[in-house]
Amino acid sequence: MRVPLIVGNWKMYKIMNEAVELVNEIKRELLDFRKAEIVVCPPVTNLSSVYELLMETNIGLGAQNLYWEKEGAFTGEVSALMIKDCGCEYVIIGHSERRKYFSESDENVNKKIKASLEVGLVPIMCVGETLEEREATKTIEVIKQQLVGGLKGFSLQDLGNLVIAYEPVWAIGTGKTATPTQAQEIHKVIREWILENFSSELSSNMRILYGGSVTPENIRELMRQEDIDGALVGGASLKSASFVGIVKNSVDE
Ligand code: 13P
Repeated sequence: MRVPLIVGNWKMYKIMNEAVELVNEIKRELLDFRKAEIVVCPPVTNLSSVYELLMETNIGLGAQNLYWEKEGAFTGEVSALMIKDCGCEYVIIGHSERRKYFSESDENVNKKIKASLEVGLVPIMCVGETLEEREATKTIEVIKQQLVGGLKGFSLQDLGNLVIAYEPVWAIGTGKTATPTQAQEIHKVIREWILENFSSELSSNMRILYGGSVTPENIRELMRQEDIDGALVGGASLKSASFVGIVKNSVDE
């Protein structure tokens, strides 16, 4: 049984008092909620203060990025251990915004996954095609390429906790969600790829999230798909009402 997982990616939003307010509101609504796992990923500047509010609750903490080196003269970067030290259990890796604006390659993604596993963080590895790639019927090819590059060199044991997020770039922040059928098709491709390259057990246990304009209204139908196990939520995770709505609607009453 795969436990549903709903992750809020706050991106570069929320200064300290806003972050505290949002997390307190989420806590108020979801403190007793056990049917899905809930994680929030605030900007790095808020990790410690959000952690203090979430400690020993059912709501987990994640970061949005890290740098693969353990330490050193890398001005402005933050290591896996630093993220973990702030109380994070999860870290988003290879988000399409990082690939696009910060030229992150599959090789970089691979190194970042390795660094996160070394300190016991659970990586949420993002994959997804652009509109151009979809229109050129290259979606599956692109997704497999990202999987091959990002997961190169790992053993079955390494990836026991890995989470994959399918986020079609054209659906991010656009209000244009992939249809449940479109999302399911790619989730199934990902699960089968894991089966072929690792094992059937890993494939059937692995949680694959959908991301891209998820709302309280569309989450139900997405979650009804066999291979969709949760969501990586951007815009709608910035307001407690919509994030709480997504969490609650992600499971049957
Ligand atoms: P939106 O939910 O705003 O489309 O963002 C999705 C996303 O990028 C989550 O990582």
